[in-house]
Amino acid sequence: MLDEIYRYHDGTKHHFHGLARSLGYLDWASQPNPFRSFHGAAAVSLRPRPDALAATAAVGAILRHSLGISAWKRDAWAGWPLRVNPSSGNLHPTEAYVVAGPMAGVTGQSALFHYASDRHALEQRCAFDAASWREAVPSSHATLLVALTSIHWRESWKYGERAFRYCQHDLGHAVAAVSLAAALEGWRARVLGDWSHREIAALVGADRDDDYLEAEREEPGCVLTLTAEASAGGEPPLVARDVLLAGLSRGTWSGRASRLSEDHVQWTFIDEIAAATEDPGRARPALPAPPAVPAPPAFPARVILQRRSALALDPRSSIDSERFFGILAATVPSSAAPWSALWWDARIHLAVFVHRVEGLEPGLYLLVRDASAEERLKAAMRSDFLWVRAHDRLPLFQLARGDCRSLAGRLSCDQSIAADGFFSLGMLADFDASLREHGPSFYRHLFWESGVIGQVLYLAAEAAGARGTGIGCFYDDPVHDVLGIADHAFQSLYHFAIGTPVDDPRVTSEPGYAWESST
Ligand SMILES: Cc1cc2nc3c(=O)[nH]c(=O)nc-3n(C[C@H](O)[C@H](O)[C@H](O)COP(=O)(O)O)c2cc1C
Repeated sequence: MLDEIYRYHDGTKHHFHGLARSLGYLDWASQPNPFRSFHGAAAVSLRPRPDALAATAAVGAILRHSLGISAWKRDAWAGWPLRVNPSSGNLHPTEAYVVAGPMAGVTGQSALFHYASDRHALEQRCAFDAASWREAVPSSHATLLVALTSIHWRESWKYGERAFRYCQHDLGHAVAAVSLAAALEGWRARVLGDWSHREIAALVGADRDDDYLEAEREEPGCVLTLTAEASAGGEPPLVARDVLLAGLSRGTWSGRASRLSEDHVQWTFIDEIAAATEDPGRARPALPAPPAVPAPPAFPARVILQRRSALALDPRSSIDSERFFGILAATVPSSAAPWSALWWDARIHLAVFVHRVEGLEPGLYLLVRDASAEERLKAAMRSDFLWVRAHDRLPLFQLARGDCRSLAGRLSCDQSIAADGFFSLGMLADFDASLREHGPSFYRHLFWESGVIGQVLYLAAEAAGARGTGIGCFYDDPVHDVLGIADHAFQSLYHFAIGTPVDDPRVTSEPGYAWESST
């Protein structure tokens, strides 16, 4: 069962002697458009309006604070948009859809919409009868569905075969972004583990061949419920999938997907891993027991909108230990967003290279995000690691002492941010055991969890007056060698660095949407 996953995962590792297969150069003529639109679909602006009703305003605010454009950057040659959610290479493979009952000011019917972040608008793909919606989602609280898909080509255009991984990271970032933006509005988001890919494709119309003639297809990702009243707690509302899908199939569809590139390179390895990890859905997963850890504060809108990737980090400044522990504490599962959005318990642990944290010896540390993995981590890693408790509340262990700046930089594809930050880290996934327990589709979920952690690290860094950068480029097995990991029990899936940003003064910044300059 794991063979096909090993084949792709090992086959897309970066090695000191060579990177995972890609074109090796950028074919600018076929650069994919980062914004999809559906020609012929009516669009409704989500620009805030004083007369909007609460639920409609909440939908706009949630999308604006999760997947909207947060800034336009400009240098002497070009301008480019950046979004609230980050993306490997700023290529943005993730598309988002909203399914909702009648919303005043948006639609009188139940409808499926595509979110067009370039215009902050909803494009109506399908209108269907309100009775199907009410029967399918009989919740007493306002509820809507958000579905996420990936366009692999957007990432494979640049990164070739490794791109499937980046699409999954980005999807995880988007899940966290939606969950955190929902929390700002007092709503609660939950990934629904019971939806199969086939059902998600039917929900968003990604299986409608005629609507995608010559256009790049979308790979189903996940469906989330968003429910007003975070305090509603407990189980997510039951969604009768068959009733909803039947309603949509009888609905009135409109719009044809725009084509993103004139030419394409086929990366069949990606099609193979996508097929091998197709999600058949599962019985409604039991929610993990709420962790005993108290919920950390949510991130305010200001922090969410100011999030940026640092392009360079100052190699001299340091962080005090209180802020450092605060950033790590934000990644520990709790009953708050975004952790409350996930239906599985924590599978990712953080191997932290501490460079300059006041009061803490430089060296290698491990944050064990799920205590049940501690003994297996000990067994899988080097036997001479220290395993000295480094904090009285956080599950943080000192593994080795020493200056590991050049090692950390080397492991992250020789990127100086990993050496120059206060610290950098590798996200170690509980790989084999998780795949055995949840099946091959969980390969994607492991990346999603790492993306969720990445989003929290970005925001926790901003809130602490620092800045972070996600790092998808690292030398996989050399990381495992440093940790003493010799098999697939644990695998590093994503790296991250946090420090003091060094900005490029030649790049200027404008608000994400023109109407925001005047409000
Ligand atoms: C999964 C992922 C991997 C990334 N890998 C790298 C990397 O290896 N090196 C780097 O400098 N930036 C990396 N980034 C940062 C992106 O380049 C950045 O998110 C993108 O340019 C958009 O900028 P923003 O984060 O400021 O919105 C990564 C981001 C993500 C989400």
